[in-house]
Amino acid sequence: MKVNGSPCRTIRVDPDDRRRILTIDQRRLPFELVEHPLLTLDDAVEAIAAMIVRGAPLIGVTAAYGLYLAALEAPADDSLRAWMRAAGERLKSARPTAVNLAWAVERVLAAIEESDDDQAERALCVAEEIEREDVESCRSIGEHGVRLIEEIAERTDGSPVNVLTHCNAGWLACVDYGTATSPIYAAHDRGVPLHVWVDETRPRNQGARLTAWELAQHGVAHTVIVDNAGGHLMQHGMVDIVLVGSDRTTASGDVCNKIGTYLKALAAHDNGIPFYAALPSSTIDWTMRDGVREIPIEERDGDEVRSVDAFVDGALRSVAVLPRETPVSNFGFDVTPARLVTGIITERGICEASETGLRGLFPEAPKR
Ligand code: MRU
Repeated sequence: MKVNGSPCRTIRVDPDDRRRILTIDQRRLPFELVEHPLLTLDDAVEAIAAMIVRGAPLIGVTAAYGLYLAALEAPADDSLRAWMRAAGERLKSARPTAVNLAWAVERVLAAIEESDDDQAERALCVAEEIEREDVESCRSIGEHGVRLIEEIAERTDGSPVNVLTHCNAGWLACVDYGTATSPIYAAHDRGVPLHVWVDETRPRNQGARLTAWELAQHGVAHTVIVDNAGGHLMQHGMVDIVLVGSDRTTASGDVCNKIGTYLKALAAHDNGIPFYAALPSSTIDWTMRDGVREIPIEERDGDEVRSVDAFVDGALRSVAVLPRETPVSNFGFDVTPARLVTGIITERGICEASETGLRGLFPEAPKR
């Protein structure tokens, strides 16, 4: 997507030095757009754990490049395979919920282990392939999802379609286009009048800081709301459709996404508002069926709740909103059961949130 009119992606190999991977330090947005280079495996692990990069698809792509960086650092002896497996484990444990991370790591490791080529070159080749596929998947999600917005627009009198979204499932969470935002950008580009309600998404405010910035850059009308406002807006006919992303979706269609997504789905269900999750198939965990019981939910540092990040005098500062000793809990994600999900938008089309629906689109997916 464009930033200040120029094309921008979240991750790329440095064209001047292929041993460097360039990312954006998302902790500094929306105040500063700062490039963050990764030179080592440690850098990649740190970028994922500290949420310099975040969002399920992007952490998968970053992990794939992390293995390339690990291969560049590997000892020149026959412990290479163990070295790469250990690097994979470190990357996988950086964040537990988004399945794209483990998926990307296993894909790169399998490709390396099957090949006699230079390991670093092979890892780089697969990481670039995952990156390209993510762009293409997100673009296709937009092509399929846009018709949901167009159908609503056809029923209205020309007033904007009101979309509500949670967290950042935009291009910043992927490589380009985004998942939940891809149909939004496609509709905007086709001239469909629309407006987006952006949940601020405490504690890290990915909605207020990242989604609102992205939408502003693309010229999409939007309004940031506090996390608890969605239900009220829905009761008053101010939301036509809810579009969210996912960090892990079970084979049965349960959708795990940023904490608070479940409450939006409950409110949407109560008010008869369609609730869709947009996700590339790399986010589907075909080994799981019961999302509430099986998906590991990340618990993050309580200081994220006790403070907010703010830009003060041109510098990023953490500002306390609670005394240090206040007990807090900080679950990062929740699970929306399939029964509350109207449908799932994937790169192959839109389906019912069920095993039949998902397997209908992905018949080649592994059986459990
Ligand atoms: O904790 P984050 O910022 O990595 O959480 C991101 C989300 O929950 C997104 O909605 C999800 O990854 C889908 S992104 C396309």
